[in-house]
Amino acid sequence: MPPLASRFADPPWGGLPGFGIGLRRIPAGDWLEGGEARPWVRKDRLQRTVPLKVWGETPGSRPGQAEVAEMIRQSLGLRPGAPGRPPLLEAARRVPDDLVLMEKPEGGDWTVSALSLCAGSFFTADEALGRDLAALHGPVPGFQDRILVRVRRIFDRLPADEIVERRNWSVVAWSSLYAPEAAAARRRALALRPRRPGAGLFLRCERQTLRRLPRTGGVLFTIRIHLTPLRDLAADPGAVRVFAWAWAQAPEDFRRYKGLAAVTPGVEAFLADCAAPGPQTVTESREESSP
Ligand code: HEM
Repeated sequence: MPPLASRFADPPWGGLPGFGIGLRRIPAGDWLEGGEARPWVRKDRLQRTVPLKVWGETPGSRPGQAEVAEMIRQSLGLRPGAPGRPPLLEAARRVPDDLVLMEKPEGGDWTVSALSLCAGSFFTADEALGRDLAALHGPVPGFQDRILVRVRRIFDRLPADEIVERRNWSVVAWSSLYAPEAAAARRRALALRPRRPGAGLFLRCERQTLRRLPRTGGVLFTIRIHLTPLRDLAADPGAVRVFAWAWAQAPEDFRRYKGLAAVTPGVEAFLADCAAPGPQTVTESREESSP
């Protein structure tokens, strides 16, 4: 996993403080970041306990799934997995990222035709399967008016030799990658009374990539979530500065959509603590070392 500074100092919002497309082209070698030794351990557990929340496929999606699996194997130099599982599911077990196969049916729009979603916080596989871009983004402010047409065009025109990446960020009050109960966790954040400013809060950075499947014509959408305790930022003044800037710039609709009100007292106490001169830090480390 890249060090914290490179994850946060490299703007996690993709250069945009609010909602936006913010795509940038990346070299093929940077496509899948890796960094989790055995992703199948985490994913297989969820597959056993909450299968419908983390996996789904539509009839007719197997050729696209097989192309995804082959692309990932080639890219990472992996051997074929054991037969038996659907190809996208098997491919997803080998990488930390969630994988979403988007296909465009005759006369329809870009639609989720298969997905493995083990780090979903705001939606689950059964909610997303079979939905098109407009339906998926219903709750996102301004998406239908400002973003949808452009995203559709990107899916239509993405060249086979181009991989693009976008990022977004949030602050959350849970530390689990699989967190479908986001609304309840936000309510709990309001009740947090941490001993140390920012404790119990996590910076959630989401990295997404899009890549064309040249043979079957679909697009593979990958999602990778990094959760970092907010307090870990304090060790890196550059990252704190970038975060403080992003926090201050975030527009009102963005704050409302991401439920940031619940974490605002904790974040602001944390930023004030980072900006405060020495003595406070001394008091804090004394507190920490006391039994
Ligand atoms: C270029 C491609 C895309 C763009 C620009 C885009 C943009 C966005 C934006 C701006 C948000 C709000 C959160 C944020 O990112 O800050 C969002 C949320 C979301 N996106 Fe996308 N998106 C894209 C592709 C996709 C795809 C392929 C899926 C398929 C699963 C998807 C599913 C969602 C869902 C489920 C949400 C959460 C909606 C909710 O709050 O219920 N997006 N997207």
